[in-house]
Amino acid sequence: MDWITLILSVIVVVISFHLIFAENNPYAPPCIRGWIPWFGAAFEFGKAPLYFIAQARAKYGPVFTVYAAGKRLTFVTLHEDFRTFFMSKDVDFEQAVQEPVYNTASISKGSFYKFHPACNALIKGRLTPGNTALLVSDLCEEFNQHLELLGDRGSQQLNELVRSVMYPAVISNLLGKCNAPGTPLSRQEFKKKFTIYDEGFEYGSQLPDIFLKEWASSKQWLLSLLVNMVNKAEENTYNESGSKTLLQHLVTTITDKFLPNYGLLMLWASLANAIPITFWALAFILSNPTIYETAMGQITSALKDKDKQKTHLSLDNLQQMPYVKWCIMEAIRLRAPGAVTRRVVRPLRLQNYIIPPGDMLMMSPYWAHRNTKYFPEPEEFKPERWEKADLVKNVFLDGFVAFGGGKNQCPGRWYAIMELHMFVALILYKYEFTLLDPVPNPSPLHLVGTQQPEGPCSVQYRHR
Ligand code: HEM
Repeated sequence: MDWITLILSVIVVVISFHLIFAENNPYAPPCIRGWIPWFGAAFEFGKAPLYFIAQARAKYGPVFTVYAAGKRLTFVTLHEDFRTFFMSKDVDFEQAVQEPVYNTASISKGSFYKFHPACNALIKGRLTPGNTALLVSDLCEEFNQHLELLGDRGSQQLNELVRSVMYPAVISNLLGKCNAPGTPLSRQEFKKKFTIYDEGFEYGSQLPDIFLKEWASSKQWLLSLLVNMVNKAEENTYNESGSKTLLQHLVTTITDKFLPNYGLLMLWASLANAIPITFWALAFILSNPTIYETAMGQITSALKDKDKQKTHLSLDNLQQMPYVKWCIMEAIRLRAPGAVTRRVVRPLRLQNYIIPPGDMLMMSPYWAHRNTKYFPEPEEFKPERWEKADLVKNVFLDGFVAFGGGKNQCPGRWYAIMELHMFVALILYKYEFTLLDPVPNPSPLHLVGTQQPEGPCSVQYRHR
């Protein structure tokens, strides 16, 4: 009798859930809601979100909603709708990211709405193509210094190698030399804490700290580090060369107690997407002999017989290696972020549907870059497809959306392309590599940011 009551109760709950929450908007897109109240399709979606999107697109069409953990995520998959996604006044970036920003950097709602526009304008202004060019020489010096620490020969995981060079070099370049971890121990500690923070960022953006103890303690460690950096930036308003770092600009823009927290977000944004792409670009080049030969041909002819230890590389040198830049763009295309997001703030028309306010609108650059209309043979790493883009004039290929779009398009994109271009050219000029593992697949687990490798990829290297 007890069992029958229990089963009947479950059936009543499920039916009531469907009656209460079933779509009563006849213009809403198809909704995948699972059968468990509130959780909806969260479990299936969470197992491999990227694959879930592709299967749902094939089954339900170009616009569909996934109901998961109390949220409605409405996916927009047609290129012709991307303009609406990025430009419509009926969608909002800040409302979409405020809660994740609170969870990952502990910035209050009030502070975020007050300071985000100025913070965004500041980073955009400091990292224009013109201002990025001013950072080239210092970044080259930093890369040289940290690449030399790899020694004459060795072997390790390629992504660990990239992190150990790029973390301190980019921190020094963007936040100031005095803020980069200066000893082997502090570099190692930073790498460990930042890697935990970065790898758990997606879960950390959704869940309170109590569910993610190690992640939350790395976040606190990084926040204390940022408090120190901010103190130094407040004491010295200019750096050694008489200019200001991004952090020194930030301290004059954010005037509340969350200043170090904004610093942490800026640090995360500057490292989290660029570093996996550096790994992929190197792995794709090293695993393809023809591509490797072509890239090396350009690198050696641009750098000729420059010193192999202190290799001075200028903007002009980079311009003499367009093929290497195509390799970077192709790696970004193939391993683009899983999703970018906006919140619908007023009813939004898309195709024949009306998307209700409150929905999270989602667009996947990763899948957009697999549309054969824009990118034939989309799974192939084909640097030469970038020949058609006018990269000298900073124009990307049609259909390329890895940096998002509209007024919240990635403000670090010109810096990212320059830094990756320079890093790949320098490391290949200085070192000879052997790949010890096949190139891994991307992990299907994440929607936030560029793709992570699913398995190991070790390399052996030798100084030339
Ligand atoms: C390959 C490397 C990178 C990729 C693929 C990438 C991609 C993105 C994407 C997709 C967004 C969201 C855009 C949108 O929603 O429309 C974004 C935002 C952002 N990116 Fe990047 N990014 C990269 C590197 C960088 C770097 C190197 C920096 C800083 C130096 C940076 C700073 C930022 C910031 C600050 C935001 C937030 C903008 C805002 O709050 O409005 N990114 N990035």
